[in-house]
Amino acid sequence: MASVVAMSPHHAIEAEHLVKRFGDTLAVDDVSFVVPQGSVLGLLGPNGAGKTTTVRMMTTLTRPTSGTARVAGHDVLTEPDAVRSSMGLTGQAATVDELLTGRENLRLIGQLYGLDKGYIARASEDLLERFSLAEAGDRTAKTYSGGMRRRLDLAVSLIATPPVLFLDEPTTGLDPRSRVELWEVLRELVADGTTLLLTTQYLEEADQLADNIVVIDRGTVIAEGTPLQLKDQSGAAALVVTVSRAQALDEARTLLAPHVREMHVDEGARQITAPAEGLGHMTRVAGIFDDSGIVLDDIGLKRPSLDDVFLHLTGHRAEERDDGAAHDAGDTDQSRETVR
Ligand SMILES: Nc1ncnc2c1ncn2[C@@H]1O[C@H](COP(=O)(O)OP(=O)(O)OP(=O)(O)O)[C@@H](O)[C@H]1O
Ligand SMILES: [Mg+2]
Repeated sequence: MASVVAMSPHHAIEAEHLVKRFGDTLAVDDVSFVVPQGSVLGLLGPNGAGKTTTVRMMTTLTRPTSGTARVAGHDVLTEPDAVRSSMGLTGQAATVDELLTGRENLRLIGQLYGLDKGYIARASEDLLERFSLAEAGDRTAKTYSGGMRRRLDLAVSLIATPPVLFLDEPTTGLDPRSRVELWEVLRELVADGTTLLLTTQYLEEADQLADNIVVIDRGTVIAEGTPLQLKDQSGAAALVVTVSRAQALDEARTLLAPHVREMHVDEGARQITAPAEGLGHMTRVAGIFDDSGIVLDDIGLKRPSLDDVFLHLTGHRAEERDDGAAHDAGDTDQSRETVR
């Protein structure tokens, strides 16, 4: 007889009408979603959206005010132990023991899970290697950089090879290169069958990693779908005309005016951007420029980014922070952090 698999064949994670209230604050307000086994869900939202609270409810760290969740088929309310043994969690704040070395941190957690000594030793070496910490493995974690701590944190949550992994803002605070490296490691984990739920404020990150995205704002789900579907939702693409000489911009603007509803001129980039109205529109505009003799470097359609999607859905950019880092909602791509 086939062995009994506790995990539902389809959904490794299910959130069902999760609600969490802190006094007057409704931190999470009726959040539901499912994560198919072996896939990546990006829980995307700005500061205070309710991401961490959602993750804490799903990982048994806090009790929902109402609603429930299941991890690997186990209910967080009625089977918290089974939930804990089928998942790993890397919280938003690093939890490594600063006085222990990287290796000791891994060993400690391995022992807490009751893993075999030999296994812990082998898995630790593998993880230190994978997270580029092999050389630093015998230094105390207090000598580590923020990025190294983050990686150690993640390594620690993987020692017991959980089938379901929750990562709360795994790359916040990392430099672009470390972020890209971490994305690679996460892709490998998923390729090996791990189901991943990650929270992020980075649209780029969700776009890079997630099969499905749930966008939350002020505790509620405001959109969900694949990255492509979300981009489609935010409406029309933009028509972008790049002239080859800045001097031709004025002439190009005059030429274009009767054919577009509005336009935005970026002198530095020698670009005019206007709402696109389909391929035919673009072809028509291209023909007009052909006839005019104005030389173009490029003409094309630009699909909306996830950042545009967020702005469209919420009226504010996802990257707006308390420190006022990106307040200009009218700003375009130049101000965006882009890591490729
Ligand atoms: N223990 C708590 N007591 C009171 N209010 C809380 C508590 N934890 C969270 N909140 C509130 O709940 C809301 C959601 O917070 P949460 O930490 O889940 O957001 P987040 O999406 O993780 O934000 P961030 O991106 O800043 O980590 C916020 O308004 C927050 O102030
Ligand atoms: Mg948080």
